[in-house]
Amino acid sequence: MELEFAGVKFKNPFVVASSPLTSKIELLKMAEDHGAAAVSTKLTFIKQPFYGKLRMYNSPKEASIICYDRRLDLEEGLELVRQAKEQTELKIFVNITSDSGDLESWQRLAREHEEAGADLIEANLICPNVGLATKSIKGADAVSSTEHGGAVTGQDPVLVKQVVSALKAVVKIPVVAKLTPNVTDIAVIARACQEAGADGVCLAGGQSSLPPVDIYHEGRPCYELLNGASHGSLGGPATKLISFSQVAQVAMKTDLPIIGGGGLGNVEDAIMMMMWGATLVTYCTSIMWYGWEVVRRTVAGIEKYMQDMGYSDYRQIIGKSLQYLRPSSELEAVPGYPRIAPDKCNGCGRCALPGHCQAITIIDHKAVVQAEKCLGCGICKQLCTRKAISF
Ligand SMILES: Cc1cc2nc3c(=O)[nH]c(=O)nc-3n(C[C@H](O)[C@H](O)[C@H](O)COP(=O)(O)O)c2cc1C
Repeated sequence: MELEFAGVKFKNPFVVASSPLTSKIELLKMAEDHGAAAVSTKLTFIKQPFYGKLRMYNSPKEASIICYDRRLDLEEGLELVRQAKEQTELKIFVNITSDSGDLESWQRLAREHEEAGADLIEANLICPNVGLATKSIKGADAVSSTEHGGAVTGQDPVLVKQVVSALKAVVKIPVVAKLTPNVTDIAVIARACQEAGADGVCLAGGQSSLPPVDIYHEGRPCYELLNGASHGSLGGPATKLISFSQVAQVAMKTDLPIIGGGGLGNVEDAIMMMMWGATLVTYCTSIMWYGWEVVRRTVAGIEKYMQDMGYSDYRQIIGKSLQYLRPSSELEAVPGYPRIAPDKCNGCGRCALPGHCQAITIIDHKAVVQAEKCLGCGICKQLCTRKAISF
Protein backbone atom coordinates (compact mmCIF):
# COMPACT_ATOMS: atom_id res chain seq x y z
CA MET A 1 0.00 0.00 0.00
CA GLU A 2 1.51 3.31 -1.12
CA LEU A 3 1.65 6.48 0.92
CA GLU A 4 2.83 10.03 0.45
CA PHE A 5 5.37 11.97 2.50
CA ALA A 6 6.31 15.56 1.66
CA GLY A 7 4.78 15.12 -1.79
CA VAL A 8 6.88 12.02 -2.58
CA LYS A 9 5.25 8.60 -3.04
CA PHE A 10 6.61 5.67 -1.00
CA LYS A 11 5.66 2.05 -1.63
CA ASN A 12 5.45 1.47 2.16
CA PRO A 13 6.44 3.45 5.30
CA PHE A 14 9.83 1.75 5.88
CA VAL A 15 13.02 3.82 5.76
CA VAL A 16 16.45 2.40 6.62
CA ALA A 17 18.05 5.05 8.84
CA SER A 18 21.31 6.82 8.05
CA SER A 19 24.10 4.62 9.44
CA PRO A 20 26.71 2.08 8.31
CA LEU A 21 23.69 0.23 6.84
CA THR A 22 23.43 2.92 4.17
CA SER A 23 27.03 3.73 3.33
CA LYS A 24 27.54 1.39 0.33
CA ILE A 25 25.56 0.48 -2.76
CA GLU A 26 25.67 -3.25 -1.89
CA LEU A 27 23.89 -2.49 1.36
CA LEU A 28 21.31 -0.24 -0.29
CA LYS A 29 20.50 -3.14 -2.60
CA MET A 30 20.03 -5.37 0.45
CA ALA A 31 17.62 -2.77 1.83
CA GLU A 32 15.65 -2.84 -1.41
CA ASP A 33 15.73 -6.64 -1.71
CA HIS A 34 14.26 -6.91 1.77
CA GLY A 35 11.41 -4.53 0.97
CA ALA A 36 12.42 -1.08 2.28
CA ALA A 37 10.81 1.81 0.46
CA ALA A 38 13.62 4.23 1.20
CA VAL A 39 17.00 4.75 2.75
CA SER A 40 18.73 7.71 4.27
CA THR A 41 22.35 7.65 3.14
CA LYS A 42 25.22 7.79 5.62
CA LEU A 43 25.98 11.29 6.89
CA THR A 44 27.89 13.22 4.23
CA PHE A 45 30.10 16.27 4.75
CA ILE A 46 31.95 18.25 2.10
CA LYS A 47 34.96 16.87 3.94
CA GLN A 48 34.46 15.16 7.27
CA PRO A 49 36.28 16.90 10.13
CA PHE A 50 37.99 13.64 11.28
CA TYR A 51 37.99 10.08 10.00
CA GLY A 52 36.45 7.92 12.70
CA LYS A 53 35.90 4.18 12.54
CA LEU A 54 32.72 2.38 13.52
CA ARG A 55 32.87 2.00 17.30
CA MET A 56 29.79 1.60 19.43
CA TYR A 57 28.39 0.26 22.68
CA ASN A 58 25.88 -2.56 22.25
CA SER A 59 23.62 -4.19 24.78
CA PRO A 60 20.97 -6.10 22.85
CA LYS A 61 17.47 -5.76 24.31
CA GLU A 62 18.63 -2.44 25.82
CA ALA A 63 20.57 0.11 23.82
CA SER A 64 23.24 1.05 21.33
CA ILE A 65 25.45 4.10 21.61
CA ILE A 66 27.38 5.42 18.65
CA CYS A 67 30.18 7.84 19.40
CA TYR A 68 32.63 7.38 16.52
CA ASP A 69 32.10 6.41 12.88
CA ARG A 70 33.38 6.82 9.34
CA ARG A 71 31.19 9.28 7.44
CA LEU A 72 31.19 10.08 3.71
CA ASP A 73 32.94 12.95 1.99
CA LEU A 74 30.99 14.78 -0.69
CA GLU A 75 32.31 12.80 -3.69
CA GLU A 76 31.57 9.51 -1.93
CA GLY A 77 28.05 10.66 -1.07
CA LEU A 78 27.33 11.82 -4.61
CA GLU A 79 28.62 8.58 -6.11
CA LEU A 80 26.45 6.57 -3.72
CA VAL A 81 23.36 8.51 -4.75
CA ARG A 82 24.15 8.14 -8.47
CA GLN A 83 24.64 4.37 -8.05
CA ALA A 84 21.47 4.07 -5.99
CA LYS A 85 19.42 5.89 -8.61
CA GLU A 86 20.85 3.73 -11.40
CA GLN A 87 20.63 0.40 -9.61
CA THR A 88 17.58 0.62 -7.30
CA GLU A 89 14.04 2.01 -7.14
CA LEU A 90 14.58 3.19 -3.58
CA LYS A 91 13.62 6.70 -2.55
CA ILE A 92 16.83 8.34 -1.40
CA PHE A 93 17.07 10.76 1.49
CA VAL A 94 20.55 12.26 1.67
CA ASN A 95 21.73 12.87 5.21
CA ILE A 96 24.00 15.92 5.08
CA THR A 97 25.58 18.32 7.50
CA SER A 98 28.03 21.17 7.40
CA ASP A 99 30.56 21.48 10.17
CA SER A 100 31.85 24.85 9.05
CA GLY A 101 28.78 26.77 10.10
CA ASP A 102 28.41 28.68 6.83
CA LEU A 103 25.16 28.30 4.95
CA GLU A 104 26.89 28.11 1.54
CA SER A 105 28.36 24.71 2.36
CA TRP A 106 24.93 23.38 3.42
CA GLN A 107 23.60 24.70 0.12
CA ARG A 108 26.40 23.15 -1.90
CA LEU A 109 25.84 19.74 -0.29
CA ALA A 110 22.11 19.91 -1.01
CA ARG A 111 22.41 21.21 -4.57
CA GLU A 112 25.00 18.67 -5.65
CA HIS A 113 23.07 15.79 -4.13
CA GLU A 114 19.91 16.97 -5.87
CA GLU A 115 21.81 17.00 -9.16
CA ALA A 116 23.06 13.48 -8.41
CA GLY A 117 19.43 12.31 -8.15
CA ALA A 118 18.50 12.48 -4.46
CA ASP A 119 14.76 12.43 -3.79
CA LEU A 120 14.81 14.29 -0.49
CA ILE A 121 17.35 16.18 1.62
CA GLU A 122 17.67 15.13 5.26
CA ALA A 123 19.46 17.94 7.06
CA ASN A 124 21.40 16.28 9.85
CA LEU A 125 20.71 18.39 12.94
CA ILE A 126 21.03 15.37 15.24
CA CYS A 127 24.58 13.97 15.14
CA PRO A 128 26.19 14.52 18.56
CA ASN A 129 29.63 13.38 17.41
CA VAL A 130 30.69 16.68 15.90
CA GLY A 131 30.27 19.72 18.17
CA LEU A 132 27.81 18.50 20.78
CA ALA A 133 30.28 16.01 22.26
CA THR A 134 32.80 18.85 22.64
CA LYS A 135 30.14 21.10 24.14
CA SER A 136 29.09 18.35 26.59
CA ILE A 137 32.66 17.78 27.79
CA LYS A 138 34.43 21.13 27.47
CA GLY A 139 31.60 23.67 27.28
CA ALA A 140 30.06 25.79 24.52
CA ASP A 141 33.08 28.08 24.26
CA ALA A 142 35.28 25.13 23.29
CA VAL A 143 33.23 24.29 20.20
CA SER A 144 35.56 25.24 17.37
CA SER A 145 34.67 26.93 14.09
CA THR A 146 34.77 23.53 12.36
CA GLU A 147 32.39 21.77 14.74
CA HIS A 148 29.06 23.29 13.82
CA GLY A 149 27.38 20.27 12.26
CA GLY A 150 24.61 18.07 13.58
CA ALA A 151 23.12 18.51 17.02
CA VAL A 152 25.09 21.56 18.07
CA THR A 153 23.30 23.49 15.32
CA GLY A 154 20.08 21.53 15.91
CA GLN A 155 19.83 22.83 19.47
CA ASP A 156 19.39 26.43 18.37
CA PRO A 157 16.05 27.32 16.76
CA VAL A 158 17.54 30.40 15.09
CA LEU A 159 20.30 28.39 13.41
CA VAL A 160 17.87 25.61 12.50
CA LYS A 161 15.64 28.13 10.79
CA GLN A 162 18.58 29.62 8.89
CA VAL A 163 19.77 26.21 7.70
CA VAL A 164 16.33 25.05 6.55
CA SER A 165 15.63 28.36 4.79
CA ALA A 166 19.01 28.24 3.06
CA LEU A 167 18.36 24.70 1.84
CA LYS A 168 14.84 25.50 0.68
CA ALA A 169 16.24 28.41 -1.31
CA VAL A 170 18.47 26.20 -3.47
CA VAL A 171 16.73 22.86 -4.03
CA LYS A 172 13.40 21.82 -5.48
CA ILE A 173 13.30 18.43 -3.74
CA PRO A 174 11.76 18.30 -0.25
CA VAL A 175 13.87 19.27 2.75
CA VAL A 176 13.45 17.26 5.94
CA ALA A 177 15.21 18.18 9.18
CA LYS A 178 16.46 15.33 11.37
CA LEU A 179 16.33 16.84 14.83
CA THR A 180 18.33 16.26 17.98
CA PRO A 181 16.19 15.35 20.98
CA ASN A 182 18.76 17.04 23.22
CA VAL A 183 16.70 20.19 23.67
CA THR A 184 14.27 21.46 26.26
CA ASP A 185 11.26 21.58 23.93
CA ILE A 186 11.39 19.67 20.67
CA ALA A 187 8.27 21.44 19.41
CA VAL A 188 10.09 24.81 19.48
CA ILE A 189 12.71 23.44 17.09
CA ALA A 190 10.12 21.72 14.90
CA ARG A 191 8.11 24.94 14.65
CA ALA A 192 11.27 26.78 13.58
CA CYS A 193 11.59 24.18 10.80
CA GLN A 194 7.99 24.74 9.77
CA GLU A 195 8.41 28.51 9.70
CA ALA A 196 11.47 28.08 7.48
CA GLY A 197 9.46 26.00 5.02
CA ALA A 198 10.65 22.48 5.89
CA ASP A 199 8.71 19.73 4.18
CA GLY A 200 8.98 17.36 7.13
CA VAL A 201 10.97 16.38 10.18
CA CYS A 202 12.68 13.19 11.29
CA LEU A 203 12.67 12.37 15.01
CA ALA A 204 14.70 9.25 15.61
CA GLY A 205 16.47 8.75 18.92
CA GLY A 206 19.87 10.31 19.44
CA GLN A 207 19.64 11.15 23.14
CA SER A 208 23.07 12.07 24.42
CA SER A 209 24.36 9.11 26.38
CA LEU A 210 27.33 7.41 27.98
CA PRO A 211 27.95 3.67 28.26
CA PRO A 212 28.24 1.66 31.47
CA VAL A 213 31.73 1.44 32.97
CA ASP A 214 33.71 -1.55 34.17
CA ILE A 215 33.72 -1.05 37.93
CA TYR A 216 36.44 -3.72 38.37
CA HIS A 217 38.85 -2.10 35.89
CA GLU A 218 39.29 1.51 36.95
CA GLY A 219 35.85 2.54 35.68
CA ARG A 220 36.85 2.02 32.05
CA PRO A 221 33.90 2.79 29.73
CA CYS A 222 32.46 -0.29 28.00
CA TYR A 223 33.07 0.73 24.39
CA GLU A 224 34.84 -2.11 22.53
CA LEU A 225 38.10 -1.39 20.71
CA LEU A 226 38.19 2.26 21.67
CA ASN A 227 40.44 4.31 23.88
CA GLY A 228 38.58 7.16 25.49
CA ALA A 229 34.85 7.73 25.54
CA SER A 230 32.53 10.40 24.33
CA HIS A 231 28.91 11.27 24.76
CA GLY A 232 27.21 9.36 21.95
CA SER A 233 23.86 8.95 20.27
CA LEU A 234 21.42 6.52 21.90
CA GLY A 235 19.57 3.97 19.80
CA GLY A 236 17.83 0.69 20.43
CA PRO A 237 14.90 -0.25 22.68
CA ALA A 238 15.84 2.21 25.45
CA THR A 239 14.84 5.11 23.23
CA LYS A 240 11.47 3.91 21.97
CA LEU A 241 9.14 5.40 24.56
CA ILE A 242 11.03 8.72 24.49
CA SER A 243 10.70 8.74 20.71
CA PHE A 244 6.93 8.22 20.94
CA SER A 245 6.73 11.31 23.14
CA GLN A 246 8.85 13.42 20.79
CA VAL A 247 6.83 12.39 17.75
CA ALA A 248 3.52 13.03 19.48
CA GLN A 249 4.61 16.50 20.63
CA VAL A 250 5.62 17.53 17.13
CA ALA A 251 2.53 15.93 15.59
CA MET A 252 0.29 17.98 17.87
CA LYS A 253 2.12 21.28 17.54
CA THR A 254 3.05 21.44 13.85
CA ASP A 255 1.56 20.49 10.51
CA LEU A 256 4.75 18.78 9.40
CA PRO A 257 4.77 15.14 8.34
CA ILE A 258 7.11 13.10 10.54
CA ILE A 259 9.55 10.25 10.09
CA GLY A 260 9.54 8.48 13.45
CA GLY A 261 12.29 6.25 14.74
CA GLY A 262 14.46 5.43 17.72
CA GLY A 263 14.16 1.99 19.25
CA LEU A 264 11.94 0.37 16.64
CA GLY A 265 12.46 -3.34 16.14
CA ASN A 266 9.31 -5.03 14.92
CA VAL A 267 5.90 -4.61 13.27
CA GLU A 268 4.07 -3.50 16.38
CA ASP A 269 6.68 -0.79 17.02
CA ALA A 270 6.15 0.62 13.52
CA ILE A 271 2.39 0.74 13.91
CA MET A 272 2.59 2.30 17.37
CA MET A 273 4.98 4.95 16.04
CA MET A 274 2.52 5.76 13.26
CA MET A 275 -0.33 5.92 15.75
CA TRP A 276 1.67 8.49 17.73
CA GLY A 277 1.89 10.59 14.58
CA ALA A 278 4.65 9.36 12.25
CA THR A 279 3.97 8.96 8.54
CA LEU A 280 7.17 7.01 7.83
CA VAL A 281 9.20 4.85 10.23
CA THR A 282 12.95 4.45 10.35
CA TYR A 283 15.02 1.56 11.76
CA CYS A 284 18.73 1.26 12.47
CA THR A 285 19.98 -0.63 15.55
CA SER A 286 17.57 -3.54 15.15
CA ILE A 287 18.84 -4.15 11.58
CA MET A 288 22.44 -3.83 12.74
CA TRP A 289 21.82 -6.37 15.52
CA TYR A 290 19.48 -8.84 13.82
CA GLY A 291 20.02 -8.38 10.08
CA TRP A 292 17.97 -7.46 7.05
CA GLU A 293 15.17 -9.91 7.88
CA VAL A 294 13.95 -7.24 10.31
CA VAL A 295 13.03 -5.17 7.26
CA ARG A 296 11.27 -8.02 5.45
CA ARG A 297 9.29 -9.07 8.55
CA THR A 298 8.30 -5.52 9.40
CA VAL A 299 7.22 -4.50 5.91
CA ALA A 300 5.20 -7.71 5.44
CA GLY A 301 3.76 -7.37 8.94
CA ILE A 302 2.63 -3.78 8.44
CA GLU A 303 0.87 -4.71 5.21
CA LYS A 304 -0.81 -7.72 6.84
CA TYR A 305 -1.90 -5.60 9.80
CA MET A 306 -3.49 -3.02 7.51
CA GLN A 307 -5.38 -5.75 5.63
CA ASP A 308 -6.44 -7.72 8.70
CA MET A 309 -7.70 -4.56 10.42
CA GLY A 310 -9.61 -3.45 7.33
CA TYR A 311 -7.63 -0.23 6.81
CA SER A 312 -7.30 0.91 3.20
CA ASP A 313 -5.10 3.97 3.76
CA TYR A 314 -2.24 4.68 6.19
CA ARG A 315 -3.90 7.97 7.03
CA GLN A 316 -6.45 5.92 8.99
CA ILE A 317 -3.77 5.01 11.55
CA ILE A 318 -1.37 7.98 11.48
CA GLY A 319 -1.88 9.97 14.68
CA LYS A 320 -4.73 7.75 15.88
CA SER A 321 -3.46 7.71 19.47
CA LEU A 322 -3.13 11.49 19.75
CA GLN A 323 -6.82 11.78 20.65
CA TYR A 324 -6.00 10.33 24.08
CA LEU A 325 -3.44 12.98 25.03
CA ARG A 326 -4.41 15.51 27.68
CA PRO A 327 -2.77 17.26 30.62
CA SER A 328 -2.40 15.12 33.76
CA SER A 329 -4.91 17.34 35.54
CA GLU A 330 -7.54 16.29 33.01
CA LEU A 331 -6.98 12.57 33.34
CA GLU A 332 -9.57 10.44 35.05
CA ALA A 333 -8.59 7.48 37.24
CA VAL A 334 -10.86 4.49 36.71
CA PRO A 335 -11.54 2.75 40.04
CA GLY A 336 -10.36 -0.86 40.30
CA TYR A 337 -8.21 -3.41 42.09
CA PRO A 338 -6.54 -6.73 41.27
CA ARG A 339 -8.55 -9.92 41.22
CA ILE A 340 -6.69 -13.20 41.66
CA ALA A 341 -7.67 -16.32 39.75
CA PRO A 342 -7.13 -18.95 42.51
CA ASP A 343 -6.68 -21.81 40.02
CA LYS A 344 -3.73 -19.99 38.40
CA CYS A 345 -2.08 -18.49 41.53
CA ASN A 346 0.65 -20.68 43.03
CA GLY A 347 1.39 -18.34 45.91
CA CYS A 348 4.90 -17.49 44.67
CA GLY A 349 4.65 -14.06 46.30
CA ARG A 350 6.02 -11.95 43.44
CA CYS A 351 2.90 -9.79 43.41
CA ALA A 352 3.41 -8.95 47.09
CA LEU A 353 6.95 -7.61 46.54
CA PRO A 354 6.33 -3.97 45.43
CA GLY A 355 7.78 -1.75 48.12
CA HIS A 356 4.91 0.73 48.19
CA CYS A 357 2.09 -1.84 48.25
CA GLN A 358 0.30 -3.12 51.33
CA ALA A 359 -2.68 -4.57 49.51
CA ILE A 360 -1.46 -8.10 48.77
CA THR A 361 -0.49 -10.83 51.23
CA ILE A 362 0.12 -14.54 50.69
CA ILE A 363 -2.16 -16.68 52.82
CA ASP A 364 -2.16 -20.46 52.50
CA HIS A 365 -0.11 -20.31 49.26
CA LYS A 366 -2.53 -17.92 47.54
CA ALA A 367 -2.39 -14.15 46.98
CA VAL A 368 -5.11 -12.31 48.87
CA VAL A 369 -6.05 -8.74 48.00
CA GLN A 370 -7.34 -6.07 50.36
CA ALA A 371 -9.07 -3.95 47.74
CA GLU A 372 -9.32 -0.83 49.92
CA LYS A 373 -5.51 -0.71 50.23
CA CYS A 374 -4.80 -1.00 46.51
CA LEU A 375 -3.20 2.15 45.06
CA GLY A 376 -3.85 1.03 41.48
CA CYS A 377 -0.28 0.99 40.10
CA GLY A 378 -0.85 -2.23 38.14
CA ILE A 379 2.62 -3.60 38.88
CA CYS A 380 1.39 -6.89 40.41
CA LYS A 381 -0.29 -7.86 37.16
CA GLN A 382 2.97 -7.40 35.25
CA LEU A 383 4.98 -9.34 37.86
CA CYS A 384 2.68 -12.37 37.80
CA THR A 385 4.21 -15.00 35.54
CA ARG A 386 1.04 -17.13 35.66
CA LYS A 387 -1.36 -14.47 34.37
CA ALA A 388 -3.41 -14.95 37.52
CA ILE A 389 -4.17 -11.24 38.02
CA SER A 390 -6.76 -9.13 36.26
CA PHE A 391 -8.19 -5.73 37.16
C1 LIG B 1 26.39 3.04 14.07
C2 LIG B 1 25.40 4.15 13.87
C3 LIG B 1 25.68 5.17 12.98
C4 LIG B 1 24.77 6.20 12.76
N1 LIG B 1 25.04 7.16 11.85
C5 LIG B 1 24.13 8.14 11.61
C6 LIG B 1 24.35 9.11 10.59
O1 LIG B 1 25.35 9.06 9.88
N2 LIG B 1 23.40 10.07 10.42
C7 LIG B 1 22.26 10.12 11.18
O2 LIG B 1 21.43 11.00 10.99
N3 LIG B 1 22.02 9.20 12.14
C8 LIG B 1 22.92 8.21 12.35
N4 LIG B 1 22.67 7.26 13.29
C9 LIG B 1 21.40 7.33 14.05
C10 LIG B 1 20.33 6.44 13.41
O3 LIG B 1 20.06 6.87 12.11
C11 LIG B 1 19.03 6.44 14.22
O4 LIG B 1 18.42 7.72 14.14
C12 LIG B 1 19.26 6.10 15.69
O5 LIG B 1 20.20 5.05 15.83
C13 LIG B 1 17.98 5.69 16.41
O6 LIG B 1 17.33 4.63 15.78
P1 LIG B 1 17.49 3.08 16.24
O7 LIG B 1 17.04 3.00 17.66
O8 LIG B 1 16.62 2.33 15.28
O9 LIG B 1 18.93 2.76 16.11
C14 LIG B 1 23.56 6.23 13.50
C15 LIG B 1 23.29 5.20 14.41
C16 LIG B 1 24.18 4.17 14.59
C17 LIG B 1 23.85 3.06 15.57
